[in-house]
Amino acid sequence: FQPKLLKGKRVLLTAGPTFEPIDPVRGITNLSSGKMGYAVARAAYEAGAEVTLVSGPTALTAPYGVRRISVQTAQQMHDIVLAQLAGADERTDVFVAVAAVADWRVANASPQKLKKNADGSAPALVFEQNPDILATVAALPKAPYCVGFAAESENLLQYGEAKRLRKNVPLLVGNIGHDTFGKDDNQLVLFDASGHVDLPRAGKQQLARQLIAAIAARLV
Ligand code: C5P
Repeated sequence: FQPKLLKGKRVLLTAGPTFEPIDPVRGITNLSSGKMGYAVARAAYEAGAEVTLVSGPTALTAPYGVRRISVQTAQQMHDIVLAQLAGADERTDVFVAVAAVADWRVANASPQKLKKNADGSAPALVFEQNPDILATVAALPKAPYCVGFAAESENLLQYGEAKRLRKNVPLLVGNIGHDTFGKDDNQLVLFDASGHVDLPRAGKQQLARQLIAAIAARLV
């Protein structure tokens, strides 16, 4: 049983990796499984919220009751998130950015499949930076309550608070260790203006429920 801590609230999330095409059959992605983001979406629904999940490519089924919008690239994820925030008749209360968004896309992606060159030369990829979805949402005049994630491999306590301030979000969730991708459990640190709180190692669904409770407590 979970108390309906987010009854009547609207929650928007991002989850999973993004996929940045090189050509029609190849691309650049990362090892995010989407499990943590999907667990948070599920916990938000169980807490009574109306939940929309903007998801990069994952092997997961959408949690019961959650509206999922599937995207491929960071730019698509950005555009859908902003459209959701602008288009909703009612205000979005909470935005949780769990996705492992690719920092760069391939600027010279080929419309046709790249072929090997007879001389053995390799194609040269040119990268350009993707928009920072979380920072963009946090800077909106009527920003929802924004929650970011950070996957750091070292100095989490220092980098976590620095990232919270840089992204200008009230709550930042640090993953301890960089080995969370694909795993069913995790260990989190919550950073907010008053300091940090540890959520000891547990299943991602259990941690997601604790995170939702922490978010709900900060909304009032
Ligand atoms: O800067 P870094 O990528 O480590 O920040 C991670 C946080 O920012 C996560 O919450 C992630 O979902 C979000 N992010 C984003 N758009 C990007 C890059 C990261 O929303 N382009």
